[in-house]
Amino acid sequence: MSYFKILGFQKEPFSTSPDPEFFYLSKEHEVSLNNILIELRLKRGLSVILGDVGTGKTSLSRKLIQELKQRNDFIFHMILDPSFENEYSLLVSLAKNFEIAGNRIDTSLSVVDLKESLERFLFQKGVSEEKTVVLVIDEAQKLNDASLEALRVLLNYETNEFKLLQLVLLGQLELHSKILSIPNFFDRISFKYTLNPLGFEETKEMIEFRMRQAGYTSSMYLFLDEAIREIHQYTRGYPRQIMMLCHRALKALVLKNKFAVDLRLVRELIEDEVRTGWHRKDLLLQKNSY
Ligand SMILES: Nc1ncnc2c1ncn2[C@@H]1O[C@H](COP(=O)(O)OP(=O)(O)O)[C@@H](O)[C@H]1O
Ligand SMILES: [Mg+2]
Repeated sequence: MSYFKILGFQKEPFSTSPDPEFFYLSKEHEVSLNNILIELRLKRGLSVILGDVGTGKTSLSRKLIQELKQRNDFIFHMILDPSFENEYSLLVSLAKNFEIAGNRIDTSLSVVDLKESLERFLFQKGVSEEKTVVLVIDEAQKLNDASLEALRVLLNYETNEFKLLQLVLLGQLELHSKILSIPNFFDRISFKYTLNPLGFEETKEMIEFRMRQAGYTSSMYLFLDEAIREIHQYTRGYPRQIMMLCHRALKALVLKNKFAVDLRLVRELIEDEVRTGWHRKDLLLQKNSY
């Protein structure tokens, strides 16, 4: 029997896959999600979400896609890894994924041909069919200059009232300087936001939310406040780190036959991590300065 079933869960509570069902709407995640949706509705073009590794960007994008799926006036595509070598491969990928020009995309098409087809497609969908075409790009810090420039050009396609392509970029902090280095890109951003790690209260709420979503119904607290405080301090509120530590804490709970995750158990896990060298160096420095 899996460890989480023993504890009364139906599903694994602290899995690190970006499942929208397990997405806790922290204040910042909520503000960013709502604003992106508003920008999309107003068709204002470009939204950019920045955040450190593990702050929940991919999870946020999954949640966004889930929202868009429920509306039939949106056509969307999500790129998970935009490491395109050049403008041409980016355009081919867009043409394929938006199913532009059917199966007629072959090497005989030039960059100009592809751009024309894309523009025609965007016009057809956006104006004739009154749909909103959305392109979501995760890991957007991987876009090279040529790709960013190609996207900038796509953002120029517009009617008098709105942009024909809505672009949502999510990326690590270095995306910011990349965007700044492309002339006329930064001022096209209509919504920009940086996701920060969670505070203690939200860390606690996220842990409780995850447990409920995973089917935990008992009124017994599995995580004591003192443990959550330590988890928050050690992970600095980074959701991915929180998930991993909570996962280990529950496993340890079962192995040790204990009833609740307390301060001692969390400290042991952290010490283990430090001893075996599996911690992040910056976390160790921070731990020494408690
Ligand atoms: N708001 C949230 N609610 C619940 N879990 C979250 C949240 N944000 C992040 N996580 C968890 O942390 C993990 C890392 O988040 P992820 O979206 O992959 O971060 P990023 O893309 O910024 O590196 C996710 O797989 C998920 O398990
Ligand atoms: Mg990610």
